[in-house]
Amino acid sequence: MSFNVTFHLSYKFRLLLLFTLCLTVVGWATSNYFVGAIQEIPKAKDLMASLNKGLVLGEKGTVTEEASVKKANLNNCSSVSPHLKGQNKLVFKPDLTLEEVQAENPEVHRGRYHPEECRALQRVAILIPHRHREKHLLYLLEHLHPFLQRQQLEYGIYVIHQAGSKKFNRAKLLNVGYLEALKDEIWDCFIFHDVDLVPENDLNLYKCEDQPRHLVVGRNSTGYRLRYSGYFGGVTALSREQFFKVNGFSNNYWGWGGEDDDLRLRVELHRMKITRPLPEVGKYTMIFHKRDQGNEVNVERMKLLHQVSRVWRTDGLSSCDYKLLSVDYNPLYVNITVDFWSGP
Ligand SMILES: *[C@@H]1O[C@H](CO)[C@@H](O)[C@H](O)[C@H]1NC(C)=O
Ligand SMILES: *[C@@H]1O[C@H](CO)[C@@H](O)[C@H](O)[C@H]1NC(C)=O
Repeated sequence: MSFNVTFHLSYKFRLLLLFTLCLTVVGWATSNYFVGAIQEIPKAKDLMASLNKGLVLGEKGTVTEEASVKKANLNNCSSVSPHLKGQNKLVFKPDLTLEEVQAENPEVHRGRYHPEECRALQRVAILIPHRHREKHLLYLLEHLHPFLQRQQLEYGIYVIHQAGSKKFNRAKLLNVGYLEALKDEIWDCFIFHDVDLVPENDLNLYKCEDQPRHLVVGRNSTGYRLRYSGYFGGVTALSREQFFKVNGFSNNYWGWGGEDDDLRLRVELHRMKITRPLPEVGKYTMIFHKRDQGNEVNVERMKLLHQVSRVWRTDGLSSCDYKLLSVDYNPLYVNITVDFWSGP
């Protein structure tokens, strides 16, 4: 009898011990996991929190509030816009003027547009890095505004201009565009757009999906073939969260090349998978030009590409410092002019 009781107790005790041990192991493992996740990008998180001052939580300003009440009464736009035309033959008139393009787009104000007939499915910011390319910009604006309107998007076009004579830094300009555009609106989706690429087919939707998207499958200058497997340049679409998660672009690519491969590595490090439209849809015309002065090939790019997994947390949106020279709300686009302190 006494033997039985002892056995019983010790059996219970051992069971309890095992259970406690299991709990401890599980607790330790999960706490480690969460600490790891939280520590990922504290700096960028702080930065975003202070920049948006509650905007992220949906407390919009009074101006947008009025607009959103109006929009709330509209039906959602359908997932496929009825205005799409498919492949389009592009014409580039040599004597085109900005006034003509403005006259063709009376519904665009301060670079922004939203459909009147329905509630757009996404709010999309188009970010265009720019220097010394006035004519290209004009052609792009001419084609992009009607293209985006046919897609029934709510959108804003931001041109980010690099002042000064330092080497061109496309990636850093795009980080600036992201940070500055979020001061206007909680954009859902960001399109990072080269100034010399014009989309030919409006079935190529300028929207974000649950994975980052590369929109340029081919351009007329490469016979409409992907430049190389893994290419992630030209025009890309990342949601606000996707771009934030990878800490944006690196700020350290001065001159031509590499920054797009860097972004691809960041995306892959976060186990996201790049998607593309069909080749007949992802077609672009590249407006011909010579490489600009101040945008020479970056010979450092291979070295930089080897460091991505080590430096992405500290080099990106969280460390993007710049001197904001002006923000001008032109009829067809917001013009942001910046200078960079550091760099060659
Ligand atoms: C309209 O779209 C929003 C998301 O943008 C969604 O939450 C809502 O349920 C949709 N409404 C209808 C009627 O489908
Ligand atoms: C691509 O199209 C543009 C505009 O029509 C033209 O200027 C350029 O020469 C074309 N490039 C090639 C390689 O055909």
